[in-house]
Amino acid sequence: MFERVTIRTALAATFCAALIGSAALEAAAAGDVEAGKTIAKKHCVVCHGPEGMSGTADVPHLAGQHAGYIMTALQGYRDGARASDFMVAMTVAVGALSDEDMANVAAYYDSLTPFAQVAAQAAKSGAPPEEEDPFAAVRAMTEACAGCHGEDGNSDQPGSPGLAGQRAEYLVDALNAYKTGARKHDMMQAFVEPLSTAEIEEIAFYYAVMKPVAAATPMIGDSFAGRAPAAACAVCHGEDGNAEDPKTPRLAGLDSEYLAAAIVAYQDGTRDHSVMRDVVAALDKTEIANMSAFYAAKAPRALPVLKPLTTKEWAEKCNRCHGPGGKSTDPRFPILAGQSQSYLIKTLKHYHGGQRGDPMMFAMSFAMNEADILKLAAYYARSAAQ
Ligand code: HEC
Ligand code: HEC
Ligand code: HEC
Ligand code: HEC
Repeated sequence: MFERVTIRTALAATFCAALIGSAALEAAAAGDVEAGKTIAKKHCVVCHGPEGMSGTADVPHLAGQHAGYIMTALQGYRDGARASDFMVAMTVAVGALSDEDMANVAAYYDSLTPFAQVAAQAAKSGAPPEEEDPFAAVRAMTEACAGCHGEDGNSDQPGSPGLAGQRAEYLVDALNAYKTGARKHDMMQAFVEPLSTAEIEEIAFYYAVMKPVAAATPMIGDSFAGRAPAAACAVCHGEDGNAEDPKTPRLAGLDSEYLAAAIVAYQDGTRDHSVMRDVVAALDKTEIANMSAFYAAKAPRALPVLKPLTTKEWAEKCNRCHGPGGKSTDPRFPILAGQSQSYLIKTLKHYHGGQRGDPMMFAMSFAMNEADILKLAAYYARSAAQ
């Protein structure tokens, strides 16, 4: 979700790829276009379309792609370097081809009107403007949440938790718990039900970067009396309720009524969590109220600000290899501009999940979440026109 990958890793891998790929690049450069056309008509058009423009989701366009890259890809399917359950179609298709056939068919596809150009023509009507606010979509999604959780993520409603500055990892767990019913709350479940995994991650991140302030709601207990029993909780939640572990919520500054209700929910199982159930099992009503007041009175600490990358910031990283707007001119790096969007999504997920093993692209895609993948695929699918 955050940028964790060093550029050095990626660059070291570039160097290796340059060495490995060079034989294929040379062979492809010597391919015979006419001979390649015959092979393509016989073996490839059924999936990759006439003129190398695929009409099928998940099947990439090949028209104008670098011959060297195509050659490397074909050898990858043949030798198993690029193989998995998802790619059997290609492994079968290349089975009958010799190295010479591959070079010829690669040269043929390279010679066709590039898909980037075809896409640019099609998009003349005007590509949608690129969004610069990484939270633009999430703001719309969370409009309904503000009434209870506050515009700035700090709740002023007794019984509603503040979300600002709570760690994204914990918020993702919390939202999913409503979804699965591990945390029983009809209203929150109804809110979360329609959200996709990507939307949940975005919402969590959106609140995590907000600045928390202590709830100004009425205290339900005696914060001084809550101090002693709270010592048992410090190991996980911190002395002052500011937890370090990303899966453990910050208690400091949350509304006291909410905290007490949460503890009772662990006790009676409406919130299913074995660790919390055991640690709060023996607490009585007064202790619960006092400990809740103790944590509510503590100052919440903001998380170090981690901003998500905008599509533009992501693309700057990618374009170092894939060329401006993904219009690569280097045969080692595939052209992305105008490539089929569903193919790009599928492929980035394969790199991310390790099903398509390429050390460079694994490193690049490792830090992406699903929302990043969708945004980047959309960007490259239409970047041909820009
Ligand atoms: C049965 C359908 C099918 C046939 C026939 C087929 N392909 Fe493919 N091709 C695919 C699919 C699906 C993918 C995407 C696989 C993946 O995710 O790696 C693909 C991927 C490719 C790629 C990788 C492109 C990229 O951008 O990385 C190349 C190159 C390719 N095919 C060339 C060919 C050639 C040349 C032929 C004919 C010899 C051929 N294909 C026949 C379905 C097919
Ligand atoms: C009508 C008031 C209301 C609205 C609207 C609302 N919530 Fe909540 N939310 C609550 C209450 C009350 C709880 C505590 C429920 C419980 O006891 O589990 C809660 C709990 C949560 C939690 C768990 C926090 C924690 O510390 O564990 C998250 C995350 C959350 N809401 C997110 C959202 C999001 C995102 C939306 C909008 C899509 C939303 N809520 C809309 C009232 C609301
Ligand atoms: C072993 C570590 C551990 C200890 C000890 C512990 N907690 Fe927790 N606590 C957690 C974790 C993990 C969660 C998140 C559980 C979940 O996802 O529902 C949590 C959640 C909570 C919540 C819910 C906060 C929210 O935003 O919804 C409250 C309240 C809480 N703990 C209070 C306490 C109190 C009071 C004690 C001491 C009696 C205590 N905890 C001891 C790990 C711990
Ligand atoms: C250090 C160089 C480098 C960087 C940076 C890089 N890539 Fe790549 N990318 C490659 C190479 C090399 C391949 C071909 C690898 C293979 O054969 O699987 C590739 C393949 C791809 C493919 C598959 C294309 C196809 O036709 O199958 C996609 C999609 C892609 N990259 C997207 C991205 C995105 C998005 C980023 C930025 C987050 C990025 N790349 C950053 C080098 C790079």
